[in-house]
Amino acid sequence: MHIDGKHYHTIWVKEDDSKIIQVIDQRLLPFRFGIYDLKTVEDTYFAIREMIVRGAPLIGVTAAYGMYLALLEFTGGDLKKHLHEKADYLKSSRPTAVNLAFAVDQMVDFVLEHRLVDDLAGKTLQKANQLKASEIDFGDKIGETGLTIIEELYKKKGDTINILTHCNAGWLACIDWGTATAPVYKAHLQGIPVHVWVDETRPRNQGARLTAYELGQEGVPHTVITDNTGGHLMQHGLVDMVIVGSDRTTINGDVANKIGTYLKALAANDNSVPFYVALPSSTFDPDLEDGIRDIPIEERNAAEVAEIEGWDGSETRTVRLIPEKSKVANFGFDVTPARLVTGLITERGLCEANKQSIQYLFPEFKK
Ligand code: MRU
Repeated sequence: MHIDGKHYHTIWVKEDDSKIIQVIDQRLLPFRFGIYDLKTVEDTYFAIREMIVRGAPLIGVTAAYGMYLALLEFTGGDLKKHLHEKADYLKSSRPTAVNLAFAVDQMVDFVLEHRLVDDLAGKTLQKANQLKASEIDFGDKIGETGLTIIEELYKKKGDTINILTHCNAGWLACIDWGTATAPVYKAHLQGIPVHVWVDETRPRNQGARLTAYELGQEGVPHTVITDNTGGHLMQHGLVDMVIVGSDRTTINGDVANKIGTYLKALAANDNSVPFYVALPSSTFDPDLEDGIRDIPIEERNAAEVAEIEGWDGSETRTVRLIPEKSKVANFGFDVTPARLVTGLITERGLCEANKQSIQYLFPEFKK
């Protein structure tokens, strides 16, 4: 996707130094654009923890490159022990997005299996590059699957399709295309008129800051709304479909996504608005059944609620929003039960949010 007309991925290997991984610093968007260098496993942990990179697929790919950096840091001794320590460290950076553990485990297995080959570092870098390439491919295919749903709606309505999305499950959360936004971009490129209602205006403003930014860069019509507006829009027929992303989806189809997603799903259900979740295979957790009980929900810094950051015309400033002594709770994610999900848009097609349908598309998830 594009920034000021130039094509970008969210992460890449530095052109003249393959020991440095570069990422777009998402803390700065949309006010400034900056690139952040990852040279060590600690840099990688910091980038994930501080949300320089964020979004389940991008977190996974960043951690994969982090394991490549872990190999470069190996100075001798017990390679297995070294890799497992670094893997645990990276996995502890953020708990909810399952892509992180999925990618780290694949990298550890790869290195241990290939430990005797020539140019192990080069091959490990290639493996991380492959994981990146498959996430791009997933986004592309998710876009094609979702496009067919938008096309159907457009055939019936014959007018602009209004899509509500929550948070940023766009290309910035992935590598390219995005998950929830991929069908939107595909429809826009096909000339189908689409308009996106953009929310997640608290606690981190990822809809307002990131989704609005990336849709704007691609010329997709959109309107930023506060998090509480979705239900009102649905009651008035102003939302044709909801598409959100996911950070972890259980084998039964329960969906963890940015806090507030569940309330959108309830409102959609009450108003018979289709509620779709777009996700790659790397976001399924086939080991978990009950999302509400089993998915770990990240609790983040109180400052994200107590304060707000904005642009004053020349610099970003942070101001306090609440009384100094008030307590704060800041849950990063919630779980939408499968019964509220109309369908899962995946790289292998559309499926229902239940075990049978998920395992039909992904037989490798069968135990
Ligand atoms: O890493 P975060 O907290 O920014 O991830 C949250 C999200 O962006 C979403 O919940 C998103 O919908 C899933 S990532 C494609």
